[in-house]
Amino acid sequence: MDHFLYKAGELFAEDVSVREIARTVGTPFYLYSAATLRRHFALFDEALSGMDHLVCFAMKSNANLAVLKLLGDMGAGIDVVSVGEYLKARAAGIPGERIVFSGVGKKRSEMETALAGGIRQFNVESEPEMETLSAVAQAMGKVAPIAIRVNPDVDAKTHAKIATGKAENKFGIPISRAAQVYRRAAAMPGLEVIGIDVHIGSQLTDLGPFETAFERVAELAEALRAEGHDIRRLDLGGGLGIPYENSNQAPPLPRDYGEVIRRTVGHLGCEIEIEPGRLIAGNAGILVAEVIYVKQGEDRQFLILDAAMNDLVRPAMYEAHHDIIPVREPAPGGEAEVYDIVGPVCESGDTFATGRALAPQRAGDLVAFRSAGAYGAVMASEYNSRPLIPEVLVDGDQFAVIRARPSYDDMINRDTIPAWL
Ligand code: LLP
Repeated sequence: MDHFLYKAGELFAEDVSVREIARTVGTPFYLYSAATLRRHFALFDEALSGMDHLVCFAMKSNANLAVLKLLGDMGAGIDVVSVGEYLKARAAGIPGERIVFSGVGKKRSEMETALAGGIRQFNVESEPEMETLSAVAQAMGKVAPIAIRVNPDVDAKTHAKIATGKAENKFGIPISRAAQVYRRAAAMPGLEVIGIDVHIGSQLTDLGPFETAFERVAELAEALRAEGHDIRRLDLGGGLGIPYENSNQAPPLPRDYGEVIRRTVGHLGCEIEIEPGRLIAGNAGILVAEVIYVKQGEDRQFLILDAAMNDLVRPAMYEAHHDIIPVREPAPGGEAEVYDIVGPVCESGDTFATGRALAPQRAGDLVAFRSAGAYGAVMASEYNSRPLIPEVLVDGDQFAVIRARPSYDDMINRDTIPAWL
């Protein structure tokens, strides 16, 4: 459920008219609903109630400081994957003890910054990383708390580019070698082994793969405890999917996911961490764009928008579906046109949808891409020298620009022409 609904014939974000915001900030722009973000975070928090737990928002899905602050105020932890994310989380007021550092290629300098600033735990993904982290921590007179990310070799049944838990993926250490790697870690002076980490992929729409992975983690936890390791924390990653298509069968709810966690690892008495990104932010955001032209092709009509693949890359990159709706509510049972919906970027991959039925559109009309709050703004680029688009947050009847649109001069001045040229 989200808070983007038609009221009196117009699309609203909570109590604010989307057209009103477009008039103020111009198009295209991302628009987030605070109520939806809060609701989604609370669903996860409630799903784990009764267990010692921390919901760590995966900020790779949406890294705006205002979004992080809103979730941080609700008690969220943050899952970061770079020192840039770490510093942004800190800038949003998240204390180090609520920040988990994941990622397959952390550099020494990143480890140093996190250790100096305070960190809840590093999720370590390889033996060379373990060695580096131990050395860095020792040189700083510190001990780094770690969970080791295991790769459980489970098929997450999702898009190949976002599946991470199969043996052929670059992530984690093979679960079959875990006992040996934990033994090595325990002997390293700069590390304190506190738990196990797993993440098998993103946009999972079936609980089965989670169940299998968590069962394997539970078995491993018992085996490691029997060897004397004090396994007291399990980080179960993110990955719960969201409905992208209105017609889709809905993916499982956080409540059901929580039950799987309870059933598979509850008996261990560990502190549970999860790292959801998409389910918290995805349906809390839309991308609003304006129709520039309606162009008649040989055998089709193109709806040419002022948003493009550089603003929202998911359709071009993963053939992802986003519902696209008019901002002016279509009359019930009214006529529809079929469009290929595209952006102005100079490649055919800049296509958001083909053969999409939509109420007839004209130049100047506004449309909204749904489910764009996760992996939208964060994956944007300035390809074709199109400045990054603004982000706006609505909360009840108020809204604020939470990232301003850069000017063309800002964009131009980022480059430097050498004096000798
Ligand atoms: N934890 C780790 C270690 C991850 O790698 C990810 C996502 C998450 C948590 C959060 O997963 P979520 O709950 O959001 O599914 N750009 C792609 C998605 C990439 C996901 C990468 N890792 C997309 O637009 O679909």
